[in-house]
Amino acid sequence: SQTSSLEVPDSAPYRENDEYADVDWDNLGFGLMPTDYMYVNKCGAGQHFGHGQLNPYGNIHLSPSAAVLNYGQGLFEGTKAYRKENGQLLLFRPEQNAIRMKSGAQRMCMEAPSVDQFVNALKQTALANKRWVPPPGKGSLYLRPLLIGSGAVLGLAPAPEYTFLIYASPVRNYFKEGSAPLNLYVEENFDRASRRGTGSVKTISNYAPVRTCIPDYVPVLMAQLRAKKNGFSDVLYLDSATKKNLEEVSSCNIFIAKGRCISTPGTNGTILAGITRKSVIELARDHGYEVEERAVAVDELMEADEVFCTGTAVGVAPVGAITYQNTRMEYKTGSGTICQELYNTLLGIQTGVIEDKKGWIIEI
Ligand code: COI
Repeated sequence: SQTSSLEVPDSAPYRENDEYADVDWDNLGFGLMPTDYMYVNKCGAGQHFGHGQLNPYGNIHLSPSAAVLNYGQGLFEGTKAYRKENGQLLLFRPEQNAIRMKSGAQRMCMEAPSVDQFVNALKQTALANKRWVPPPGKGSLYLRPLLIGSGAVLGLAPAPEYTFLIYASPVRNYFKEGSAPLNLYVEENFDRASRRGTGSVKTISNYAPVRTCIPDYVPVLMAQLRAKKNGFSDVLYLDSATKKNLEEVSSCNIFIAKGRCISTPGTNGTILAGITRKSVIELARDHGYEVEERAVAVDELMEADEVFCTGTAVGVAPVGAITYQNTRMEYKTGSGTICQELYNTLLGIQTGVIEDKKGWIIEI
């Protein structure tokens, strides 16, 4: 039944039947498509998370004075489950998300699930929603873990209760461009993160203010209107201190390539330490590229052969053009590019088409 909660034993994952949900698998984008179950687990401040449960997907009850609503005490993660031809589901480095949530929770004064609890909860959520995992080659089931201060506060203080939940949605391409190259705009009027702030933490409050050019998303109106009018896909941020170096795109990390050298902004506190970013760096080095994690000057965009973005939702996405101070720069995309080579390798490992020699995949 999909109307009552499921007990979640830690060692014997619940298995939903293998039938597919009624979805138009050929036309998936990155919109929310509610699935059958979400995982929910609560814990008091100063305590440890115990067993969670799978509830039917639906609204959650929160006090109006929940810390997450009033003071933004919340973190999120993103990871994907892929379906192999043999029907098995594959998770990609889920322990990395768990570790990142734990360290984010420390920064945000929150209790966090252990790595094992987190990974187990992801497995349960993926399996319980198996019929929503797209057929091989048609996308993935995006899994969205949330950790929120659900307890009530009035004065500014950590919440007395935390809720860890995971919901899921089948997805394919993040950008409306599909897999076509992105057209970015270098944002100089707004910053994404500041030094010693929370730019490196996957806190919910890092994201609402930054999206400036996606239709129907309105936080920073002037930049949005300008960017939309000019048909940009997304915004590329510069460092807030000097405005000379690249930071990241609203939803993903950025890489530039010149010859066989690939560079990406170093994780200096303002950059989100993306799991796709880290994996792409490792794969690129394996493929014989030199990879530098360092301050990347915006001026280097003039010289770059290729630019690409990485992220869980985004994957490895080619950038075809960037506009900076009224100058539009264009980059190589398509066959024979480094971006495509890394995209193919990463997706091949994630989908089980390329052998995982790194121990990155968990089969469930
Ligand atoms: C992801 O890539 O999974 C993220 O969490 C970024 C989000 C803005 C979609």
